[in-house]
Amino acid sequence: MRSYDNLICPRCGCRLSQNGGSLFCFFKHCYDIASSGYVNLVLSGAKSQAFSGDNKEMMQARHRTMDRGYYKSLADKVVEIIATYPHDDILDIGCGEGYVTGRIAQAFESSNVRGADLSKNAILLADKRYKNASFIVANSASLPILEGSVDVGIAVFTPTYFGELERVIKKGGIFIKINPSAEHLLDLKELLYDNTYLNEEEQVVATGFELIDSLTIYDEYKAVGNEIMDLLQMTPYYYHTPKEAIERVAKMEKVTTRLGYDIKVYKRNAN
Ligand SMILES: C[S@@+](CC[C@H](N)C(=O)[O-])C[C@H]1O[C@@H](n2cnc3c(N)ncnc32)[C@H](O)[C@@H]1O
Ligand SMILES: [Zn+2]
Repeated sequence: MRSYDNLICPRCGCRLSQNGGSLFCFFKHCYDIASSGYVNLVLSGAKSQAFSGDNKEMMQARHRTMDRGYYKSLADKVVEIIATYPHDDILDIGCGEGYVTGRIAQAFESSNVRGADLSKNAILLADKRYKNASFIVANSASLPILEGSVDVGIAVFTPTYFGELERVIKKGGIFIKINPSAEHLLDLKELLYDNTYLNEEEQVVATGFELIDSLTIYDEYKAVGNEIMDLLQMTPYYYHTPKEAIERVAKMEKVTTRLGYDIKVYKRNAN
């Protein structure tokens, strides 16, 4: 379900309302709704930044890997957690090409599920693929979202700005932050590098929130043939590893790697 509710003007902060194919604020700042449905709420002077992996070929590799179940256990767990809290309005920040957003929208058909990302290319793909959710090009550091309108915020492997989350999430609402666990993709790293390190835990100061749950889930992903190159293109290592190592691993018959997700659930303070 496409929704343009609870959006604010990135220029002046006034609430936006729909008139025909555009959104307008009180001061008549205007943002066109694309024919596919998404809205770009990053000001034209500001850059809708690319992220590493922000080209069509890599996005398609991501889609194919997602379709093979790469994020399934994570999405299942996120849906299970969301189901236990009020969830009329759900915002997935830094949603990328939208797999998790789409899965959430599928699970909660009557909720307003929205994905936001600074990469326009990512939003174009998400918007085309997941018609049951709404998508906006937006900066997580300055969200064009109405104050106190979100029941559940989610951030998977993406930077978070607690000041903005405190503003947009309802009092008593929930924020779910997912980071790679120490061992996420460790086996793949061992194939690529001589010396490997465990992923470090991100230290956050969650001002305005209380940590109410913390868990780590594990899964395993097996790739064969062309699936290996798709998997490599999904990871940050693809950009930081000598070409020879990428090609050597891509030619392997089979790659099996651990996946691990650190999931932290925060509750927005009631005052
Ligand atoms: C590693 S990807 C994760 C995408 C998605 N959550 C997933 O797990 O498949 C990180 C995403 O964060 C987005 N991103 C980075 N900084 C951002 C910001 N300030 N505002 C919005 N999105 C941002 C990138 O464009 C990218 O899509
Ligand atoms: Zn305005």
